[in-house]
Amino acid sequence: MPKPSFKLDKYSAVTAKIADEALYGNTNAAEPAKTLVSQGHLMLALELAHSEFKRDVDPEIIVARLAKNLHELRRDAGPAVWKALIPVAQQHPVSEYLQQDPFTKWSFEKPRGYSGDATLLDIYYQHKSADDIIAQATELGREIYHYTSNADSSVAGRERCEILTDYVDKTAADHPNAEILSIACGHLREAEKSEALKTNSLKRWVALDQDPQSLATVRHSNPGNAVQPVEGSVRGLLGRKYDLGQFDLVYASGLYDYLTVPIGVRLMQRCWDFVRPGGKFLFANFSDEIKTDGYMETFMDWPLILRNGSDMEEIVNGSVDRNSIDLNVFYGSNRNIVYAEVTKLA
Ligand SMILES: C[S@@+](CC[C@H](N)C(=O)[O-])C[C@H]1O[C@@H](n2cnc3c(N)ncnc32)[C@H](O)[C@@H]1O
Repeated sequence: MPKPSFKLDKYSAVTAKIADEALYGNTNAAEPAKTLVSQGHLMLALELAHSEFKRDVDPEIIVARLAKNLHELRRDAGPAVWKALIPVAQQHPVSEYLQQDPFTKWSFEKPRGYSGDATLLDIYYQHKSADDIIAQATELGREIYHYTSNADSSVAGRERCEILTDYVDKTAADHPNAEILSIACGHLREAEKSEALKTNSLKRWVALDQDPQSLATVRHSNPGNAVQPVEGSVRGLLGRKYDLGQFDLVYASGLYDYLTVPIGVRLMQRCWDFVRPGGKFLFANFSDEIKTDGYMETFMDWPLILRNGSDMEEIVNGSVDRNSIDLNVFYGSNRNIVYAEVTKLA
């Protein structure tokens, strides 16, 4: 299967080049002997999965083992060799089976032109709006989807949505007429779960994203409530293009995974201006403990910059004066996502 071009939106600070630098050291200098050995291991894993698909082995068993093999290969190969292996995996005939999974296919094909769009999240959030996409898949595709959408990283993504909802509702409980800002809001699915929104306890919930199609969904899903969609990008935020006022909670979910440290720091500094004293900035990042990284980078063509607690702290330390904040870095329940909650001392 030909690899689609890795297009990213022209408004974004996130580029394929940045992802390449952050993940693979922007190098093509894979050592030939090591590459050959690793490629041998990769071919064994791919051939095994391919032959098992042909023999109708349970797809969940096949994909679970393949994902584990890819994770270990990625970990052991080092960035330069792993980078050389990615196209080899993508071009192997086993991908014709894996691309029947609507989650894998949507991620790989990028119908919206960039990685990690809001519909992709709906697919693994198991949101009802994705039901048709799932229903149109083959039976095999739906079986693979059952595995991929219940992998730990997907479970963590769904929990992230719950955690965001809790933050919004807690902010509303602590601050009458609370004001909330979501950066890179996607479809803002947490709004569907928020009690505070339902009970009109929020003054406004500004939902900023660079994708007008996603904002149209946000608008359509939130008629006459406190949600206010705003078209805007990281680049626009860094250029101080939006006069948004101040908020009790500013959060970014599903965004830092695409940002290098320097951009992440600049974005946090900018977001910090939006936080009023006593308010919070919260950001989330897939953690470097995830085991689906190899599968995501190959068959989903979905590279993420993974982080741990110290990496999160590094971004905070580079952005704000530690004496002026309370910092709480924590992991979700299966440790696949790490969060930093930064409170601006009043
Ligand atoms: C993975 S989704 C996250 C959606 C939502 N926040 C969530 O956690 O479910 C990533 C979102 O980031 C947006 N995005 C990506 N790069 C962006 C940029 N540079 N500026 C603004 N939004 C961006 C995309 O349009 C997409 O809606």
